[in-house]
Amino acid sequence: MAGVSAHGAQAMPAALRAVPRPTAAAGRMALRALLDGRSLLPVLSALHSELGDAFQLPMPHASPVVLAGPQAARFLLVDARADFRWRIESDPVARLFGHGVLVEDGAEHDRLRALMMPALHRRMLEGQVSAMHAAVDRCCAQWTDGAVQTVLPQMRALALDILARTLFAVDITPQLQHLWHSILRAIKFISPGMWILWPNVPRPGYARALQRLDDYLLQLVGLKRAAGSSGAADVVSLLIEAGLDDRLIRDQLLTLLVAGHDTSTALLTWALYALATQPAVRRRAQAELDAVLGGAPPQAEHLQQLPYLGQVVKETLRLYPPIHVGNRLAACDLEFNGCLIPAGTRVLFSIYLTQRHPAHWPAPEHFDPDRFDAALHPPPQPYTYLPFGGGPRFCVGAAMAQVETKLVLARILQKYDFDLPPQRMRFHMGATLEPARPVRLRMHVRPPAV
Ligand code: HEM
Repeated sequence: MAGVSAHGAQAMPAALRAVPRPTAAAGRMALRALLDGRSLLPVLSALHSELGDAFQLPMPHASPVVLAGPQAARFLLVDARADFRWRIESDPVARLFGHGVLVEDGAEHDRLRALMMPALHRRMLEGQVSAMHAAVDRCCAQWTDGAVQTVLPQMRALALDILARTLFAVDITPQLQHLWHSILRAIKFISPGMWILWPNVPRPGYARALQRLDDYLLQLVGLKRAAGSSGAADVVSLLIEAGLDDRLIRDQLLTLLVAGHDTSTALLTWALYALATQPAVRRRAQAELDAVLGGAPPQAEHLQQLPYLGQVVKETLRLYPPIHVGNRLAACDLEFNGCLIPAGTRVLFSIYLTQRHPAHWPAPEHFDPDRFDAALHPPPQPYTYLPFGGGPRFCVGAAMAQVETKLVLARILQKYDFDLPPQRMRFHMGATLEPARPVRLRMHVRPPAV
């Protein structure tokens, strides 16, 4: 039987097992990886193969339960979702985002989400395609033939530029230098660290940087209020019109700014890394682009005509999911697969392990965009592919991320060829899953397609 909650329709069976725990040695290995700032993912993969789709991670302060696989996904995201909380008051993410939609539960979450959704609708975003490829062209303006580019910071600047224009209707680029350090501090503030073991660990050195971001966002709200932007469709105007106060608008804007750009930064960087290390995939994507677009910049109507590029994006999201784990608190005693998850347990749902699950993905470690070719394979089984989560808290920015990623990659692949010697990339677990080493690509200008 899959999970039922103590509050659910079925009563909690009397004899439940504890969630399996690894040996003390495995626990020490996990702890060492965390403290050394290394990725926990190899440890989690090893524990998953040994213990299955539910196991505990023994840590000194608390022992979170890790869940993986489609049955766990359905349990957490849909069937028992009302028995989980997103908001964990002591977590840095709640302290940073205040009452942002990402860390609210219940009716207030649903209200905030409904208010911002119109600005994130695919049709709205398709109207921004020209602004997006103009941003890509500005980003690439310095990419001379044969020069080496360090991709991640450039994708970050590009993602911020696109996000501010499309969602906030402002040009953030003049302030970017001033805000850069603050944005990196905000990301570091919510990344895994010592606070997991010691929730009240002092976090000196953040206040000034975070205040600078608040000042920027509150000034933006003030300017929009003064301009009386009634009827405008950007998210700032929508939230002002809905009657939210400045602080609550700041919480939503900071949530969107961080959640909306750090994820796209990671996805674009991983996609360029995958395309650089797999020349056959890159050439096939370029051939598709040349056939559909010639040399012209991609427009909204072209996005559906680039199926292979779409498969590349999907496979990148499978193998390198920017949000690799979902973080919840069990609000009551829960049962999953005959195991008791006591109330108050932190539950981590691993998107990474699910999307590399050997029972559901053949050759799971292999990058193969053809897995998503509908003519060759049936679609993935339900709840085995969840890069944007699932259920009622499915990512609000999924449409934006898909339009943006396809467009940016299309423009870069049209203009450049690039390579990187094959190398095994380690993961860095920041707020998103990033390459641990800088991705440096040598860019070669392509002759214009005819
Ligand atoms: C590659 C890009 C992206 C990926 C992989 C991604 C992934 C996810 C995932 C997995 C969740 C669910 C987390 C959970 O259930 O614990 C989520 C939620 C969310 N995402 Fe994204 N995201 C991306 C882009 C964006 C963008 C562009 C925005 C905003 C512009 C955004 C804003 C949000 C917000 C606000 C939530 C919370 C939704 C809710 O709780 O109702 N994301 N995202």
